[in-house]
Amino acid sequence: MIKSDYLVIGSGIAGLSFALKAAKKGTVSLITKRKLFDSSTGRAQGGVACVTDNLDTFNEHVQDTLISGAGLCDKEMVEKMVKEAPDRIKELIELGVKFTKKDDSHDFDLGLEGGHGKRRVLHAGDVTGGEIEKVLINNVPKFKNITVYEEYTAIDLILDSRGVCCGAYVLNNDKENIEIFQSKVIVLACGGSGKTYLYTSNPDVATGDGIAMAYRAGADIANMEFVQFHPTCLYNSEAKSFLISEAVRGEGAILRLKNGERFMDKYSSQKELAPRDIVARAIDTELKARRESFVYLDITSKSRDFIVRRFPNIYSKCLEYAIDMAKDMIPVIPAAHFFCGGVKIEENGRTDVKNLYAIGETSCSGVHGANRLASNSLLEGIVYADRAYKDSLKLLDRQHSKIEENADNTLYASRNHATAYMHEWEEIRRLAWSYLGIYRSNEKLLKAKKRIDVLKNEIDKYFVQASISVDSIELRNIACIAELILRSAMIRKESRGLHFNVDYPFMLTETCDTILNINIKEDVCGFVSKEKYGHN
Ligand code: SIN
Repeated sequence: MIKSDYLVIGSGIAGLSFALKAAKKGTVSLITKRKLFDSSTGRAQGGVACVTDNLDTFNEHVQDTLISGAGLCDKEMVEKMVKEAPDRIKELIELGVKFTKKDDSHDFDLGLEGGHGKRRVLHAGDVTGGEIEKVLINNVPKFKNITVYEEYTAIDLILDSRGVCCGAYVLNNDKENIEIFQSKVIVLACGGSGKTYLYTSNPDVATGDGIAMAYRAGADIANMEFVQFHPTCLYNSEAKSFLISEAVRGEGAILRLKNGERFMDKYSSQKELAPRDIVARAIDTELKARRESFVYLDITSKSRDFIVRRFPNIYSKCLEYAIDMAKDMIPVIPAAHFFCGGVKIEENGRTDVKNLYAIGETSCSGVHGANRLASNSLLEGIVYADRAYKDSLKLLDRQHSKIEENADNTLYASRNHATAYMHEWEEIRRLAWSYLGIYRSNEKLLKAKKRIDVLKNEIDKYFVQASISVDSIELRNIACIAELILRSAMIRKESRGLHFNVDYPFMLTETCDTILNINIKEDVCGFVSKEKYGHN
């Protein structure tokens, strides 16, 4: 048994920021499935939205976030996040993050992205997440209190007899044995679940582990139907859905059909800089109507010098595939990018399972509503890491909960042989892409339900009978996520933000979060707001 004050699961911006703060007050076990750097944060290109310019205001950032969120954001949470942003950015800079400045000046070079009325995106070239991740990781060794466990895959949370979360069962990937981590505070910072879909901008680790574990532990899961598809991933079978940042459109890139025609003006007065749901749907509509497989992103109006300076990483990646952005248009398609839903949390990061926090993409904090505004995700990660840290201090002087002898550990014992379930893995991801994608319909949802019910049953059965491996853990989790997306999508009888059902093409005048809970079998009861927080 590995005992610490804090157990942090996940090593992106949210998990690392939390761990660096928590280590000043207690011992931290930081576990991550692969290496510390393997997270969605490390791949984030665009930047962090934050009001820093005199001509910009908090209110404008709030309004842009609310408009993008299509009526489902929690306004109070958005206001708090936007106002706390400058302090959190200052902390990142103090840790060593270098955001790009304007030439010969101390002013930040602010980027523009879809849905933003002003330039307010702080960036580090076009590798913002990579820079932040590197700096956070470099700070970890400064804290003796943090023990890093790389190649450790969390399987399930452990609850004591009162239902309080007190740790997790974790697979040691290398030794192939299962270890128990015991803690007073458990923080899920596992990112999202892009790998539930066939095409995604996410890294391989994005298999919804945090959301799936929290669901199995009895936490409320909210708004899983709102899966954001990034409009512009590189269309190339070898590029593994490399992202072409929205910042490229912010600097003037135009979307064109194969015949060169511009089309976004038909869909929004904001054209290429409309919120992501609108741009991704427009591309999908055009591709289906023309039976084509990609559209082009054209930034050839800018000089090579500008492109190389502003987008060095994207420029060199495109060159690897023989695309010279300065003279060639870039073939792009939408791909699954971000989960606006997740583990329902309060403003301090608490879930409704005692001592369990969720932060960053794993959570549903209310700030993204039905569609996240570009570059608000890294911001959410740092803001909620800070809030959760401050709140968790209240739990530190308590005793560790008792983990019962043999507490379900037999379920996991001596099954440590790696097995791959390639067929089911592929099938779920294809199914999600085809039936739970950009355009949904009642028929597609019913088709998905038939297959997902069967697959989920089989996978859960294998999980108990066969060997535990990283593959089986991840497969079980993406199956769980696919089911949660499906059930939430079936509850929502309207189209809003990222959820579009052709059989209900309009927005209802009154709406609320969809909430699923493993202990409540009737999904219809999920479509209500719950007031059951405030424990401890
Ligand atoms: C991008 O650079 O386009 C992605 C940034 C984000 O998802 O907010």
